[in-house]
Amino acid sequence: DRCILIGAPVEAGTGRRGADMGARAFRAAGLAETLRDLGLEVREHGNLFIGPVVPKAHPNPMIGDIAEIAAWTEVIEKVAYETAAQGMPIFLGGDHSVAAGSIAGINRRAVEDGRELFVLWLDAHSDYHTLDTTESGNLHGVPAAYVTGRPGFAGYFPPLVAPVKPENVCMVGLRSVDPAERSALDGSGITVHDMRAIDENGIGRLVGSFLKEVVVRGGILHVSLDVDFLDPEIAPGVGTTVPGGATFREAHLVMEMLHDTGLVRSLDVVELNPFLDERGRTALLLVDLVASLMGRRILDRPTRSWS
Ligand code: ARG
Ligand code: MN
Ligand code: MN
Ligand code: MN
Repeated sequence: DRCILIGAPVEAGTGRRGADMGARAFRAAGLAETLRDLGLEVREHGNLFIGPVVPKAHPNPMIGDIAEIAAWTEVIEKVAYETAAQGMPIFLGGDHSVAAGSIAGINRRAVEDGRELFVLWLDAHSDYHTLDTTESGNLHGVPAAYVTGRPGFAGYFPPLVAPVKPENVCMVGLRSVDPAERSALDGSGITVHDMRAIDENGIGRLVGSFLKEVVVRGGILHVSLDVDFLDPEIAPGVGTTVPGGATFREAHLVMEMLHDTGLVRSLDVVELNPFLDERGRTALLLVDLVASLMGRRILDRPTRSWS
């Protein structure tokens, strides 16, 4: 089992500076060492970079750095496609616009291999704006729309070779969804679980039924973990905190259940902003969550069966 750590120091998709230091903070928090202690082989891909870009305007006046995000998306997509054939790529953000490239490239590989890709999107936000509906203009608010093939990206973002089926996407942890996103999600086919659904049903039951479907349909999984999925009390190091998020125990449970499926092939850990963190505690928590996803466990117990 080989993990490939890929730094994507992107901050042009957010309204706050500092997310470009996220990848460095994951390393300082001991991510590689933690994974090696679990018996995994770790390959360090280093940080990606883009050259200078020619600015480009979009009719939506709120949008700023579209050329830069397009350039990042292209670079990340290629690396995702290539590394997916060599191990498990782990994308260390950078803001959530990283997922536009990672998921696009992962799915290009999956389609080529004849595999059905499912995406678990762990986030306070749905990031389902198009370039035309975003009110903030922050492009970390659009990757879920781009990778599922919503219109309006052509000519701005790289052409999407293989859109992910909306029916294969499950969003968990939502508590900040803009009106345009909410109406677009309705009838999109995407499964959405907001915090109310988690409170009423328990996160284990909701995630469990999605994972069961992935197993039954013979799919593989990409996990996109936005730091703001977590409650700001335990994870303050993120630019877009929203109160009432996932608890320490809920987050670890999801990671442990994901590990039990054996189907997670790729991961984004995004939106960590070390400039806003408190003595590295958000980075350290995320390293522990990735460890749970990669097989750290409290006790030996029979692996849960999903059929
Ligand atoms: N929906 C809001 C916006 O478009 C928030 C997006 C936050 N996204 C994120 N990846 N943190 O600005
Ligand atoms: Mn997000
Ligand atoms: Mn978010
Ligand atoms: Mn924003």
